[in-house]
Amino acid sequence: MTDMGKRRPRRRLIAGAAIVLAIAGSAYAQTPAAPKAGGWLKKLPPDQQTEAIDRQLRGFDMAMFEVNYRYIEMYFGGIEGNWDYALYTGEKLAWAMMNGFERRPKRRANAEEIFFKGAYPQVLDAIRKKDIALFKKRFDEMRTTCNACHTAEKVPFIHVGIPSIKQTPLVNN
Ligand code: HEC
Repeated sequence: MTDMGKRRPRRRLIAGAAIVLAIAGSAYAQTPAAPKAGGWLKKLPPDQQTEAIDRQLRGFDMAMFEVNYRYIEMYFGGIEGNWDYALYTGEKLAWAMMNGFERRPKRRANAEEIFFKGAYPQVLDAIRKKDIALFKKRFDEMRTTCNACHTAEKVPFIHVGIPSIKQTPLVNN
């Protein structure tokens, strides 16, 4: 009973804080006007809408856009010792690539053979071990598999190097 007596004021405090947050939240939500949907998709005949979504999502190039972003971020996460972030973004690199296979199934065979059976899992292993020397070595090996796939897929002019410019303002604190 005495315990319950002690808890009540705290409950009131929590309820009060929730109300303050709700008011603050709704005030904030009113500040920027919600963007209006352009409605372009609905203006298309229904039988053309799916194709338009497909076209707007694009193909393997946009998958690579994200792969490239995560490749750079994983690198800086590793060399800055932000291992949790390196793993977080490094795993999403694979998801981005797999979404790409859904759009362009013909790309899967080379990616699996050259990339996923290659150094990529080894890089994740080095991240989990938090071993910077091993990470740098394996990252460079993985980089060569990125380029090997580009050659196999007939885009040898897309040749990636070791990242030099970080994409985000993340700091390892
Ligand atoms: C299937 C094998 C394959 C693998 C593995 C692969 N790529 Fe690609 N990449 C491609 C193809 C194919 C294109 C061209 C896509 C297109 O034209 O639609 C491309 C394009 C790119 C582009 C140019 C994207 C643009 O249009 O702006 C970059 C950057 C890139 N890849 C980076 C990487 C990095 C970094 C890795 C490794 C982490 C990697 N790629 C692994 C096949 C691959």
